[in-house]
Amino acid sequence: MSANANNAGFASKMGAILAAAGSAVGLGNVWRFPTETGANGGAAFILIYIFFMILLGVPVMISEMAIGRHGQKDVTHSFLKMSGGKKLWKLMGLIPVIAGFLVLSYYAVVAGWTLDYAFEAGVNAFAGKNAAQYAADFQAFSSDPVQPVLWMVIILALTCGIVALGVQKGIERGAKIMMPVLFVCILVLVICSFTLPGAGKGLSFLFEPDFSKVTGSTVLSAMGQAFFSLSVGICCLCTYACYFRKDVNLMKNGFCVAGIDTMVALCSGLIIFPAVYSIDGMQPDAGPSLVFITLPNVFQQVFSGLPWLAYSFSLLFYLLLVMAALTSSISMLEMAAAYFHEEFRVSRPKASLGVTLVCVLLGTACALSFGIWGDVQLFGMGFFDLFDFLVAKLFMPVGAFLICLFVGWVVDEKVLRAELTNNGSIHQPLYPAYRFIVRYLAPVCILLIFLNELGLF
Ligand code: ALA
Repeated sequence: MSANANNAGFASKMGAILAAAGSAVGLGNVWRFPTETGANGGAAFILIYIFFMILLGVPVMISEMAIGRHGQKDVTHSFLKMSGGKKLWKLMGLIPVIAGFLVLSYYAVVAGWTLDYAFEAGVNAFAGKNAAQYAADFQAFSSDPVQPVLWMVIILALTCGIVALGVQKGIERGAKIMMPVLFVCILVLVICSFTLPGAGKGLSFLFEPDFSKVTGSTVLSAMGQAFFSLSVGICCLCTYACYFRKDVNLMKNGFCVAGIDTMVALCSGLIIFPAVYSIDGMQPDAGPSLVFITLPNVFQQVFSGLPWLAYSFSLLFYLLLVMAALTSSISMLEMAAAYFHEEFRVSRPKASLGVTLVCVLLGTACALSFGIWGDVQLFGMGFFDLFDFLVAKLFMPVGAFLICLFVGWVVDEKVLRAELTNNGSIHQPLYPAYRFIVRYLAPVCILLIFLNELGLF
């Protein structure tokens, strides 16, 4: 039984693009991108990130889509089919499934925080506080043993419910509703941000590069961010692509998704940094707390004479984060659930529930690592930091490396070409460049960056 057999695929090309864009656009764009940009010096980091996006992210994403649509099944069976039946490659397909558990577990913690903050914004709880109180509030909330876990469970339950509904009624419908609302929220917030007094400084930080701040670690971070933002290397889009119609142009789809993803990341920068620079003493490198400590304060101070605007801005921003997080977490859960559905013949709802329950356990460990399990360290990191490190700096680059080796060297070139040209019915002028990248450039690039990070150069 194929992943497709019980579920019609995406009904429309637009549904396919929106769902894939929903997988890519997420906390990685609105929370992680500004955090990484702030920590790595701004514009120079962004340029390296965009470079990796085009050079590595898009070709790997297109490869994942080709594997999924050709396989018409979950990730492991798609690898098996596209390899011409080589069992080793089915095993390789387990790497993204494991990564899927890790990423969804810690992702759901941050998504849970955003849901709590949307709720707080909705009841106007940010009004009338000072900077120290926002920091204390976040510290108290994130280290609480109960609340973050509860919000995380709510996010995972919502994700599970949507995935269990199936491809058209759940994933496609969810993306068609949430993605346009998300775009409108972003647009409104960018326009508001441009009117702030710090807009000029925020724009300089985003668009005037200072390459003296670039180190080897900046380069690895930029590559990790490009992969994280596109969800590549963990095969979320491989699974979605098995629901794509045969007439979808995969290369065009890949560029569309990357374009939307990059626009949303830049817009998030355009919303956040002008706001940060509008208040004396605020720094863009506040780290992961930027969105949860700095911004509530910034929104209140910037719109201090206009409380309704502070209220609306905050609420809209955190709702945007919730929707962005949900559309991505859906694709992570779908990827792992499709594997169990396919491999062990369990129904979609049961597979979704099983994956969700494991993620609740792992996510609880991540959530508690900000509080009562703060002292529990593995490799010098708490669970949350460890999961983030493993996903963005290990599983995603390694997954991307293996995918390049797979499509570049293992898969029959005729099969790959047929998939990307829809059996010769569309002309793909970029195919030779794509082929060169996945065969040589991308694997070498990923390897060099790793060796550099290990200090071997
Ligand atoms: N691509 C997803 C995001 O950016 C994981 O949040």
